Amino acid sequence: MPKEFSPEQWQKIEENVSEAEIDDRKSDRASQELRRETGATRAAREKARDVGSPVGGKRKRVVEKAFSREEDFEKAAQDILGADGSPERLLVSLRLKNLAHALREEQRIEKAQKVLRSEETDILKSIEDAPTGVEQEALGEIRDELATLEKTHEELLASSPEAYIGLHLKELKEYKQELEVGRIVETPYVKEQADDIVTHFNAGKPVLIYGHLGSGKSELAMHIARNYIGKEALVISGSKHTTLAELYGHQVLAVDQGTGSTVSDYFLGPIYRAMQEGRPVIIDEVNAIPHEVLISLNHILTRRVGDKVNVQQNSGTTVEVKEGYGVMMTGNLNQGQEKYVDRQDMDPAFLSRLYKLEYDYLPQQTDGNLEAEAGEGNELFHLMLARAIDKNGNLEAPRDSVLKLWNLAKAARVTEDVFAGREVSNAFYFQQGGGRSVRYLLKKSVLSIRAIDNVITQWQKDGYQREIDYYLWKEFVSQSTVASDKAYLYQMFKDRFGFFTSDGWEQNPQYGSGGVIESFDVKPPENAPTKPQFFGPREVVAFAYGKPPERKEWPKLDNETEKKSKAVEQMDVAALQELEAFKNTLEKDLNQLESEVGEFCEIEGESSKRASPGTQEENQWAKAKEREK
Ligand SMILES: Nc1ncnc2c1ncn2[C@@H]1O[C@H](COP(=O)(O)OP(=O)(O)OP(=O)(O)O)[C@@H](O)[C@H]1O
Ligand SMILES: [Mg+2]
Repeated sequence: MPKEFSPEQWQKIEENVSEAEIDDRKSDRASQELRRETGATRAAREKARDVGSPVGGKRKRVVEKAFSREEDFEKAAQDILGADGSPERLLVSLRLKNLAHALREEQRIEKAQKVLRSEETDILKSIEDAPTGVEQEALGEIRDELATLEKTHEELLASSPEAYIGLHLKELKEYKQELEVGRIVETPYVKEQADDIVTHFNAGKPVLIYGHLGSGKSELAMHIARNYIGKEALVISGSKHTTLAELYGHQVLAVDQGTGSTVSDYFLGPIYRAMQEGRPVIIDEVNAIPHEVLISLNHILTRRVGDKVNVQQNSGTTVEVKEGYGVMMTGNLNQGQEKYVDRQDMDPAFLSRLYKLEYDYLPQQTDGNLEAEAGEGNELFHLMLARAIDKNGNLEAPRDSVLKLWNLAKAARVTEDVFAGREVSNAFYFQQGGGRSVRYLLKKSVLSIRAIDNVITQWQKDGYQREIDYYLWKEFVSQSTVASDKAYLYQMFKDRFGFFTSDGWEQNPQYGSGGVIESFDVKPPENAPTKPQFFGPREVVAFAYGKPPERKEWPKLDNETEKKSKAVEQMDVAALQELEAFKNTLEKDLNQLESEVGEFCEIEGESSKRASPGTQEENQWAKAKEREK
């Protein structure tokens, strides 16, 4: 082997490694499919085959294909990587080293952030009326430190391609997991709003989260209760029929166990119960509740922990407000468009008592092509990509899927804006028959996360049998109950975003005239999608966040092995285990590596807890750093 490679030569080696990585992932994916089909692990399958009775599955054809994929792709990857000590394998080691470093550093940053945030909360909670000078200084310091950590994280992302890909992929995979269990995904926008709400909630201020249909207000409030306050919320669903009794409780008749006689008892409503149990109350759709009922809340909104509150409806009794109590409300806005029936403008005196936060749809660009626009600002697209990838961060789907998802994300945000009555660029006027265009506001339909999820889920459940356009029509556009909404959406998806343009889609439907459309319908053709293609995490992350940074450092070719063995001597047991784990996962999945690093850090954390906290922990980190060198 030569002493040095030129950057161009390394570049070629890098391409080889990336190719091997994709092959390896394809093989892994086949292994997983086989596991699912046959119920047997790889070791069990190989053993069975050695003794001449290979395990089969129900779907023979799938099993056969998976078998040959598993083997062929693995072999292809090994061939590319070559023998031990090949430059390709050195690069693989460097990649893993970079990745492990990034994952570990990120964990350190997140831990530090958590400590600072809880310190901030503690200070905010105990502020009486206004913060003292000392409190202000302390808060300022905490915020500075948080900002520094944020910057460190950004630098970490830019430090190597592996840090960039690994950390972003981790984020997408977390999104995916949360989506799967139906939880709110904390994109940067959501996180920012959640922090804002929690800060006010903890300071004893009732919060009103307001915004348009399906932006996620109710879910966000529940998410905050569960994950930030640590308590399941009591939810009151507001409507024009909401009564005082529903909020505060009512008398009930009960049978006295002892005497058998009927006694009168008081059933505490959710507001008092939440105080007593130290839980958040969520008043959903608050602006549907009649004025006179809402006003009754005025005196109760700002109760603090420790206050004793008279149960007015049950004279003589009181409840004590426990830690965890607080009020969050959600509501829609009425902007004179009669979109939200049975909602009223809220009483100014009532509103003035609340911290009001507008919660918008997720940030998403509405123009431009993916290559130029990929990046942080496209949170809706990130959610959709996360929805589409498998649990290892691969995407195997019709070739044009990513492009279609990108267009769908942009279009969704346009429907949201048009629905919300925002001035979107002139292009979004509705072209009617005879070439006339009218300004149009969607009346009932908005392509919210809920609706997008429906479209993608059906498309995937059907095994990508038809193009996504079909599901967009079936699951969303055709579901609209307003003919003009349907027509407008069809036109917008078709003319601006390239959907509904393949064979068989109606290209000149009746768009009505003068804003009047009696009915609208098209017959969706069942076109097959484009051929499937396999995208690995490098590609998926680049689609979502843009190209990774250039590599700044290439592997060293000289006495690499010698250095490694020296380093091993200096390691403690935990570190040795970790190294062993790394070795085993060298060509394996990022997933596994991640959790191993996670466990390793936990072990580290544990051992430092047992000994004296601060210094030991520092030592551990110094050791870890040493090891990386
Ligand atoms: N950040 C997010 N991550 C995942 N899902 C989300 C997110 N935001 C919203 N959703 C999904 O969007 C849907 C709508 O949310 P939700 O019902 O909370 O909206 P809302 O603003 O209260 O709507 P409405 O005006 O209809 O009351 C839910 O299915 C929710 O899971
Ligand atoms: Mg809601």
